[in-house]
Amino acid sequence: MTTTPVQITIRRPDDWHVHLRDGAMMRAVLPCTARQFARAIVMPNLVPPVTTAAAAVGYRARIVAALPAGADFTPLMTAYLTDETEPQEIARGHADGVFTAVKLYPAHATTNSAYGVTAIDKVMRVLERMAALGVPLLVHGEATDPEVDIFDREAVFIDHTLIPLRRHLPELRIVLEHITTQEAADYVEHGGDNIAATITAHHLTINRNAIFQGGIRPHLYCLPIAKREKHRLALRRAAASGDRHFFLGTDSAPHAAPTKEAACGCAGIFTAATALELYAGVFEEKGALDRFEAFASLNGPAFYRLLVNEERITLRREPWTAPSTIGDGKLAVHPFRAGETLRWRVA
Ligand code: DOR
Ligand code: ZN
Repeated sequence: MTTTPVQITIRRPDDWHVHLRDGAMMRAVLPCTARQFARAIVMPNLVPPVTTAAAAVGYRARIVAALPAGADFTPLMTAYLTDETEPQEIARGHADGVFTAVKLYPAHATTNSAYGVTAIDKVMRVLERMAALGVPLLVHGEATDPEVDIFDREAVFIDHTLIPLRRHLPELRIVLEHITTQEAADYVEHGGDNIAATITAHHLTINRNAIFQGGIRPHLYCLPIAKREKHRLALRRAAASGDRHFFLGTDSAPHAAPTKEAACGCAGIFTAATALELYAGVFEEKGALDRFEAFASLNGPAFYRLLVNEERITLRREPWTAPSTIGDGKLAVHPFRAGETLRWRVA
């Protein structure tokens, strides 16, 4: 019989998908990410979106200026792909070390995606250039046809868009972001060297029942929406396998509480305050703490062709209470698992 160790030390992890926002909201949430992660892939869905290298340079400087004193954190920037993006803008931004990757939002799929891509054909010249250069494409993988059931949008996107795209452009390196289904996990696991997926802490811990438990729970609403239990179990198997195709991406997406607790609440779950602790809990439950470092700290850099972090981080099995809010006043955000007792704690 094996017993769970009381602490675990791993290379410092990275968050391969996060929303840091801008201005006062960024200043409120950034310390949560910087306390645990060495680097993060920063989503470009600001208003207006980060579509140029110049905009990304400015945004990166604002993030760095907002870091708490002594924080050791590097933001990795992404370009927001639109129908109008020029291949040259991406090529130059990548060569200059500004763009680590490019994000594809299908138009109207999610928060601030109105400027997203209306049809894959419109961005094919950009994707061909990225394939030639090895620039990763990060995909919000949901079909946007309103006829498609919200719980089927990821699986339909894989069949109707992702598979044809990869057949046309097999060299393109793709991260299917925040996967939520068994179909996605199976597809990525067997998809070869040029595909990987991020998995969030919340999709590993809740299924769709949680969104409606005793009433509607706006803080558990995100896109892609949580699916039924069999999908959560498939994601947990994928993450805990240590397989190189899967790595940590929180998709932490803060929205001020009143914009979620509303007649039409925003999509997004804010996990940065509790993410690493929750992931560790999942790996403990799976008896896979020995594979936690692969998922959190090794597989991501390998796919992105970056060095792994040299620093270490220790998590202890020591109960603590997750914060009930982050930020003040109108911008206060409700963290995932707010006020609940968590088993693991970053030392
Ligand atoms: O739930 C989500 N929130 N999904 C996304 O894709 C975007 C994000 C946000 O920016 O709030
Ligand atoms: Zn996201």
